[in-house]
Amino acid sequence: MPTLVIVGAQWGDEAKGKLVDVLGSQANLVVRFAGGNNAGHTVIAKGKEFKFHLIPAGILHKNTKALLGSGMVVCPKGLLEEWDRTLAQQSELGELIISSAAHVVFPYHRMLDSLEEEARGDNKIGTTTRGIGPAYQDKVARIGIRMSEFVDKIRFPIRLKAVLEVKNSYLAQFGKEPLSYDDVLAEYSAYADRIRPFVRDTEPMVAEAVEAGEKVLLEGAQGTFLDLDSGTYPYVTSSHPVAGGACLGTGIGPRHIDSVLGVCKTYTTRVGGGPFPTELDNELGDHIRTIGKEFGTTTGRGRRIGWLDLVALRHACRLNSLSGLVVTRLDILSNFETIQVAVKYRLDGAEIDYVPSDVDVLSRVEPVYQELPGWEGDLRSARKVEDLPREARAYLDFMAEFTKTPVAIISVGPDREETIIANENLIWGE
Ligand code: IMP
Repeated sequence: MPTLVIVGAQWGDEAKGKLVDVLGSQANLVVRFAGGNNAGHTVIAKGKEFKFHLIPAGILHKNTKALLGSGMVVCPKGLLEEWDRTLAQQSELGELIISSAAHVVFPYHRMLDSLEEEARGDNKIGTTTRGIGPAYQDKVARIGIRMSEFVDKIRFPIRLKAVLEVKNSYLAQFGKEPLSYDDVLAEYSAYADRIRPFVRDTEPMVAEAVEAGEKVLLEGAQGTFLDLDSGTYPYVTSSHPVAGGACLGTGIGPRHIDSVLGVCKTYTTRVGGGPFPTELDNELGDHIRTIGKEFGTTTGRGRRIGWLDLVALRHACRLNSLSGLVVTRLDILSNFETIQVAVKYRLDGAEIDYVPSDVDVLSRVEPVYQELPGWEGDLRSARKVEDLPREARAYLDFMAEFTKTPVAIISVGPDREETIIANENLIWGE
């Protein structure tokens, strides 16, 4: 039963989209298990660039079922735009399926996301303003509208009326005009009509695929340190991007997971607020942002840049019980004389080797760096580990030894082809 989970091992944007595309071609079923259209996955296939925010990148393979899991919050408008755009780019796609238990994002969620951010003043989280936090708030408060209700012509108008009353009174506290029930109902009923054919109870389907020994890929969004419980709270997203979230957001038990791959860059990026121990808020950071084109797929924001933080990466390996690392953007670190990696933190005069869970404490730590030799040349044509410069291989070995996690895959460029499989056996856990 090869079931593989892919998670981000840093703060998101680790180039998981490309990996899910590469491995999605081998999978029968790809499930996205958390988040919403706050995520942005870019896939470059046969010279075409595809951008996904909600739909699993596996949809590009016509024999793959691409499922939006119960752990997701789905914006119907965004979903339909993405579906239409992808269909216009490639006429043959996989099968799109949406869990009846996934929650729906409405306009009031997006409005409240922006209004709550504004109200935070200097303590802004830097959310994507896609309504993700407010939609999960409703889920936890047990007033959210699930897909099964959304596509039910009788129940949706009743549920919307009740929820909109509550939301309009909240919007009034921010001095905002109430949303019109008739307008929202008309617009969203039209979306529901188009989405209805894709919605179904997905747990039995996933269970059957697992029992039949099909290849099932559980695709994470965001990254470990944006996890609601394990991340740098409150500077986190409102879902569970860690491997544990894959079980919850798909509806399978932990014994059905065979392998967990953690995707990390050879350096670190973060978008939004919150502590970032190895941040390079200087010319070097600007240089890496430029050569790495580190600008958000969803918001276009320039990403914060830092050296590789091995203390954090080791923590992510433990939290996700990683079977292997997928190291991306090795090509971007070419042509640096030396490269720094954080191997410890200094906190109040003492050295520590773990990530403190309290953000105030974490924001006080100073990284302790080890300097490693850089390498030269364009790595994009490398297809085997042996094709890489000696120093680049040493860098990867250092990451693996420090984190006690072997390297499974290396990415040396954005294209599907620019991929090195370092250890095939780690991928599907066979
Ligand atoms: P939200 O998920 O929009 O509520 O944003 C919460 C935090 O997670 C903010 O710091 C965002 O920048 C960050 N975030 C959300 N999605 C992503 C992503 O896909 N990549 C990187 N950061 C993200």
